[in-house]
Amino acid sequence: MAESDEIPPYQNALGAFHDAFADELKAMVDTLPIRDGDRVLDLACGDGRFSRWLADRVGPGGFVVALDLRPSYLELARGTVSAGPGADRVAFVSADAFRPPLPDGAFDLAWCAQSLRSLPDAVGLLRGMARLVRPGGKVAVLEEDAMHHLILPWPEDLELAVRRAELEALADSIQLPRSYYAGRRLPRIAAEAGLEDVSVWTRAIDRTAPLSGAERAFLRLELAALRERSADRLDPDELAVFDRLALPDSDAYLPDRPDFALTCIERLVVGTVPS
Ligand SMILES: C[S@@+](CC[C@H](N)C(=O)[O-])C[C@H]1O[C@@H](n2cnc3c(N)ncnc32)[C@H](O)[C@@H]1O
Repeated sequence: MAESDEIPPYQNALGAFHDAFADELKAMVDTLPIRDGDRVLDLACGDGRFSRWLADRVGPGGFVVALDLRPSYLELARGTVSAGPGADRVAFVSADAFRPPLPDGAFDLAWCAQSLRSLPDAVGLLRGMARLVRPGGKVAVLEEDAMHHLILPWPEDLELAVRRAELEALADSIQLPRSYYAGRRLPRIAAEAGLEDVSVWTRAIDRTAPLSGAERAFLRLELAALRERSADRLDPDELAVFDRLALPDSDAYLPDRPDFALTCIERLVVGTVPS
């Protein structure tokens, strides 16, 4: 697959997201059915944050394979993992997720986080993950849904306008616009991929003012990305309201409000590979 090796621009926001919600994300990884000594695959590992937490879970007798298409991302992941205690348990593989150079049945659990918008054919991807896992092992996917990812205390009519603008912009600009909304279909995707006993855990993470530096950084980048996607399709009045609430220099910047609260929604689906 022809793909640039540059770290994509979205990594800033994704890294900030990992920082802002690290405790809860790690807690979700801690619920995965992983035992000491297990073999775990982190597919499309990105910056390696999840690989590091997975390496904690497998213990000294287990291992994690962190796979990504981009060598630059694997470099970043190496740095992340080397800062953790399980660094020697992680091997890095540069490969296409759809053609992994890995034997069938080699893992006890295959994990993929926040990557369905980067990878076409979600059902095919999960089927491929299932092939790499032994019968009775698990496939686990963490995703979000762009429409419901963040509950912010802004006016309902503004939110409707912004989300519609974002939906239209995605439909015009990228090949797989629906992949931004994969979170809502995740259980169905898992079932269509042939997984059994599919469990769904939707986690709502709350934050209230005053926000930490990491939380503020995440929101600033998230709101900037939302503006970039939607500004051209908002009318001038809507854009003026958006900018008043969402630009950090504004004296009405939403996250500066003493009563500010946000909820971030993430979905974890785990299925069993048929025996
Ligand atoms: C949105 S990032 C998510 C990374 C990481 N799982 C996380 O949660 O932070 C998507 C990742 O998919 C990788 N990727 C895109 N296409 C891929 C492919 N065909 N095979 C393997 N990795 C791919 C990108 O390089 C990037 O690291």
